[in-house]
Amino acid sequence: MSKQEKGGMTIVLLACTAVGAITVAATLRWAPERERSARVPAIATEEYGKRLLAQTAELLGPDVADPKMRFNQSRLSCGACHLGTGTEPGTLGLPPAFGHYPRFSGRAGGMTTIEDRVNECMVRSMNGRPLPKESPEMIAMVSYIRSLSDQDAASGASRRKANEPPTFKAPNRAANPNAGKRIFQDKCTACHGTDGAGLLAAANPIHGYVFPPLWGPDSFNTGAGMHRVLTAARFIKARMPLGRPDLSDEQAFDLAAFINSQPRPEMSGLERDYPDRRTKPVDTSYGPFADSFPLEQHRFGPFQPMEAYYKSLQKPAR
Ligand code: HEC
Ligand code: HEC
Repeated sequence: MSKQEKGGMTIVLLACTAVGAITVAATLRWAPERERSARVPAIATEEYGKRLLAQTAELLGPDVADPKMRFNQSRLSCGACHLGTGTEPGTLGLPPAFGHYPRFSGRAGGMTTIEDRVNECMVRSMNGRPLPKESPEMIAMVSYIRSLSDQDAASGASRRKANEPPTFKAPNRAANPNAGKRIFQDKCTACHGTDGAGLLAAANPIHGYVFPPLWGPDSFNTGAGMHRVLTAARFIKARMPLGRPDLSDEQAFDLAAFINSQPRPEMSGLERDYPDRRTKPVDTSYGPFADSFPLEQHRFGPFQPMEAYYKSLQKPAR
């Protein structure tokens, strides 16, 4: 190759590189715009959202291969509480959820969006950390929850009425964890285990639980709604034993007290919840409160005297 030819090649190469660079620069400049609208919706489908609620441990749990995707410390799925990935009517059904937001949350002390609410379950019920609001996972879950509300608007009310599970009325006494323990041994251990630890998928634990734990390291933490005795009793009466709920109010009440007396992950900073303490539900399991009832009574009842006290406070103000 002559010197001239070599020079020519270099020029051609340089020219190619320059054109290439321009193309690359153009791609770099345009890609984020295009990708944001093209990539996110492609992943963040309702279908993915539904899978995230059903197979949360597998997709966001502590055993996920990519450490960045390990959002939850528990191996629960959202569907452990929101039965049928939220499609079951009544207690913890999600069809009406989308329409509830934005709304004021006493616990947060301000307005909350549906994304905030999903993250409250991420942090408390799932004992994890919040998902970025613009993440495909959050967008997918919210679009799935929105799709439930669309279906509900079309056909929900009549279906809901026909399938309403048994409702719960709190007995006018303190719940008895010891009585709850006996009922637990009789009616719950077949699935949840004698130690309440549930049953992990035998083939591979990354799939999460076949029967979820009711306490212990993989369960909801102390800041979760399910850690409130009335919320838990309402759920238990409506849903458990799974498939054939047959408990009395008394039994569901004592069972909730027993389960919520067992060890589980502690959430820190709970004293900052409910900045206006008068909005704090009477069965919240941690202080401080805007009343002088003992903590023990907030945990186990009787709840009627506390409800009457807060009702009397409201009257003059309104
Ligand atoms: C340990 C049980 C439990 C688990 C697991 C759980 N939740 Fe919840 N969730 C609750 C309770 C309790 C409430 C409060 C219901 C109420 O306010 O009456 C709630 C409320 C919600 C609401 C608001 C419903 C409404 O109508 O305002 C949404 C949305 C929600 N959860 C989504 C999720 C998602 C998504 C996951 C999984 C990432 C999840 N939850 C996991 C127990 C649970
Ligand atoms: C036939 C098996 C079965 C029996 C018996 C049963 N459960 Fe469950 N329970 C489940 C399953 C499965 C789930 C998760 C829901 C799902 O996957 O559909 C669940 C979920 C729960 C949850 C919410 C999720 C969590 O991990 O906290 C509570 C609380 C609960 N059960 C309490 C009870 C109590 C109390 C009894 C006894 C009265 C009971 N269960 C009996 C199968 C059972």
